[in-house]
Amino acid sequence: MEFSQRLDLFGDEVFAALGARRRELEAAGRRVFDLSVGTPDFEPPAHVVEALRQSAADPANWRYSLHDTDELLAAVCSYYEDRYGVGGITPDMVMSCRGTQEGLVHVCAALSDPGDVALVPDPCYPVFQNATLLAGARPAYYRLTAEHGFLPHLADVPADVADAARYLIVSLPANPVGSVGTPEVYEEVIAFAREHDLVVIHDNAYSDIVFDGERGGSFLAYPGALEVGVEFLSLSKSFNVTGARLSFLVGRPDVVAAARKLRSQIDFGMFYPEQAAAVAALTGPREAVERQRLLYQERRDALCDALVEAGWERPNAHGSMFVWARIPGGRTDSVAFALELMERSGVIVTPGASFGPSGEGFVRMALVMPPERLREAVAAIAAAGM
Ligand SMILES: Cc1ncc(COP(=O)(O)O)c(C=O)c1O
Repeated sequence: MEFSQRLDLFGDEVFAALGARRRELEAAGRRVFDLSVGTPDFEPPAHVVEALRQSAADPANWRYSLHDTDELLAAVCSYYEDRYGVGGITPDMVMSCRGTQEGLVHVCAALSDPGDVALVPDPCYPVFQNATLLAGARPAYYRLTAEHGFLPHLADVPADVADAARYLIVSLPANPVGSVGTPEVYEEVIAFAREHDLVVIHDNAYSDIVFDGERGGSFLAYPGALEVGVEFLSLSKSFNVTGARLSFLVGRPDVVAAARKLRSQIDFGMFYPEQAAAVAALTGPREAVERQRLLYQERRDALCDALVEAGWERPNAHGSMFVWARIPGGRTDSVAFALELMERSGVIVTPGASFGPSGEGFVRMALVMPPERLREAVAAIAAAGM
């Protein structure tokens, strides 16, 4: 049987190879440190779990959830005001999504036609590219390089590409490169969007994991942002609810309406008990989120300091739950390096090339273990002579 050519857009060879070898090593009793996947090891807040439990106990909440509740939309609007200082968000500017991952597929499809161009970072969180490809559009890449602090440098985008593009995806703090947005960058992004008449999609998955005294914010806080763009607010990493799929598209009302129209052809909305959990997260106490930020920072410090002691260059790691490390010794083949590293040290990292060509020469490490264990992982790397 022949399947859709769409499936040929996606390769999974690297992850399949890493995963298969990992299982073999574990079966052989080898000690393995898996720093490849960004799933938080922290727990969801008790009040969020309780809200979901109580809501799920009511049979009425098991019906089709065709709409976001008024309470949910109001909770997102007030969260933008309280947490990010962004006033003026109204319910028509908000739509729940079953995760940013899925929401991106919907919004990209709502914004572009087959053959269109979209601007996507390289390296990037893979769905930025894949959602664009699924929409039939063609990603044009802008690079995130050490030269520009791993931040967007849109002056490098050729004017004809910028004029042709329907949307621009920006995501800071950045997975995988660990950079954090600055006012200058966001101002440049907004001016660029205006000049080239394109929509900005800002993915804000890590605003609560920013280090060194900086405070993560919202793209929508910048003057003009609400005229050019939308933002994904994911609760996954701030509240450790990755399996519950709690995310929101927020911003320019016509873009949200278009995404809502497309999405309503595909699913029936967010399960009511999940909506209750999201309300609890958005309106509840935030001290645990701040404590967690400091714990991530301790992990970042432990991992980066140990890598430097082992002879690596200090990685880029200012925010997100990832550390972006240049492979030592001038080696550039990140897939070969990651496979060899796993074989010799038991430490599993993600090859930079799996995030795009500009990721070559780097590996990504996730801050998913306590500091002591991260130090042990680096000790294993050093003992393996890598
Ligand atoms: C940049 C970025 N955006 C979005 C997500 C996923 O968010 P969600 O769980 O809301 O789909 C991740 C998860 O790793 C991510 O790194």
